[in-house]
Amino acid sequence: MSHYFENDNNLKSEIKELSYKYDSSFFAFYSDNGVFSKNSIDYGSKLLLETYLKEAENDIRVLDVGCGYGYLGIVIGVFTNSYVDMIDVNKRAVHLAQKNIKRYKDFKGRAFLSDAYQEIQDKYNVIITNPPIRVGKDKVLEILENAFDHMEDDGKLYFVIRKDQGALSIKKRLESTQKIEIINRDKGYFVFKSTKL
Ligand SMILES: C[S@@+](CC[C@H](N)C(=O)[O-])C[C@H]1O[C@@H](n2cnc3c(N)ncnc32)[C@H](O)[C@@H]1O
Repeated sequence: MSHYFENDNNLKSEIKELSYKYDSSFFAFYSDNGVFSKNSIDYGSKLLLETYLKEAENDIRVLDVGCGYGYLGIVIGVFTNSYVDMIDVNKRAVHLAQKNIKRYKDFKGRAFLSDAYQEIQDKYNVIITNPPIRVGKDKVLEILENAFDHMEDDGKLYFVIRKDQGALSIKKRLESTQKIEIINRDKGYFVFKSTKL
């Protein structure tokens, strides 16, 4: 069985469309087999996004790490008029995110392949991620611990992790280099905001 974070060229494509409403704005996303949460928008991602949007600044530069079909990055870009880059290791996810970007003519940004920050050269004001827990704790820590190398000095990291997926032990691990707050929690999901110590 292939996992959503693996590249499986033999996996049959069955494009479907997911919809999402925020305030009075409607969004639609192409999804497909072989990507994370292909049949519905993930509850953790929705909680992260809606928590972020309550305090988001407009007109900034955002990086969405592990973008999947582009849900977080596209809504943030459209809603806050920010420039958003989106990265993922899954080729099908990146292809879908690129296809989804084209649906939003006001969106500014790109979707491209990158294993964590390998292809990242620019600096951002915000990094946001629903990290790939299933890949393993080492990759999640690589994404969270190195985030500040790719942000401006006053950059902010936002992420969501479920309690039963080690949210509090990951928080503890990051506390030696980051100032972390829990800014929302619901249904076992914790939304964290972090700045550099
Ligand atoms: C929990 S999903 C979140 C997807 C999307 N942001 C959403 O909210 O629907 C994590 C994503 O990270 C991607 N991923 C896994 N390993 C990665 C890596 N090494 N670098 C970048 N992305 C990775 C997966 O392919 C998956 O799309």
